[in-house]
Amino acid sequence: MMDYSRKISERLWNMPDKGELESRREATFIDDIIQKSHIEKELLSHLDGIKTVFDGGAGCGRFSILLAKKGCAVTHFDISQPMIDKAKELAAKEGVLDKITFVNGALEDLKGFNDKTFDMVISFDAPISYTYPNQKKVIGELVRICRKQIMISVSSRLGTLPYLANPIQKCQFILDETCDDPFVKWCIGNKENAIEAYHFNKDAVMKLYKDGLMGGDSEIAEYENGGTPWCITYTFMPDELEDILKHYGVKNIKLAGPGAYARTLPRELLVKIMNDSKQRSDFLDFCHYYDSNPFVCGMGKDNLFAQGKL
Ligand SMILES: C[S@@+](CC[C@H](N)C(=O)[O-])C[C@H]1O[C@@H](n2cnc3c(N)ncnc32)[C@H](O)[C@@H]1O
Repeated sequence: MMDYSRKISERLWNMPDKGELESRREATFIDDIIQKSHIEKELLSHLDGIKTVFDGGAGCGRFSILLAKKGCAVTHFDISQPMIDKAKELAAKEGVLDKITFVNGALEDLKGFNDKTFDMVISFDAPISYTYPNQKKVIGELVRICRKQIMISVSSRLGTLPYLANPIQKCQFILDETCDDPFVKWCIGNKENAIEAYHFNKDAVMKLYKDGLMGGDSEIAEYENGGTPWCITYTFMPDELEDILKHYGVKNIKLAGPGAYARTLPRELLVKIMNDSKQRSDFLDFCHYYDSNPFVCGMGKDNLFAQGKL
């Protein structure tokens, strides 16, 4: 399983169109808008004294570029060359190419970085969860290279369990059903089939609840057949994530569940809110406030957010 997890992740994230598709997510899915907005608000309010940043699994640069624009020297680290290429293109457009060092590498191997190299270490939208079974060690390594502030978001077990019982949940968050994004088209095209074929699988949800693991033997078989399955993903419980961070010496830990509030609203209302700039900005402010309450942290979209100090 150990090698497979990394190999599967490498194949998936290196698909040529990955960078392009990921860079469009905020234009297509409301839950992604909410999650990225939450992280952005957190980052912007914690930049005092931060000059250097390590972004692990930085993707197409959603946050590395933002921080470079704020004057930080950023190391943009990712396992995928298409993601890095897309990030370079976007960084050049924003005029911050020279503020960012791009490194193609795996989070499982951070030996090349000395202790306390970076003022801030970030890793958002689950890269840590894709390093199963090394996720705990990877968090330890991210803490090791950090001097002041750490912020991460990992796959949330309590947040993912509703997804497992609801294969059409992503449909609730489509911003524009007429857009030509291939994943949006797939969600819409597949909806009726997904409902038709649906049955509640107690064994599957109980398994995920207990071992936290999404994917396994069938993903490995698919990979061996030349396919590109989704990453084997480790989902965390909130108390578990807090304990791991504490174990490595992180203090003042705060947990949040971006997307928890929005889960309660039907798509028709979410779309109305998003298409009105004043309501959208007010809503994103309130989501950030509500989703920062640690009592809802498990019920975020599918990510559990944590921050702390060294
Ligand atoms: C969902 S994207 C998140 C991108 C970005 N952090 C954001 O929040 O917009 C996950 C990223 O993690 C990267 N990734 C996955 N496994 C990784 C690993 N083992 N080491 C480094 N990067 C990894 C992928 O290539 C992808 O760019």
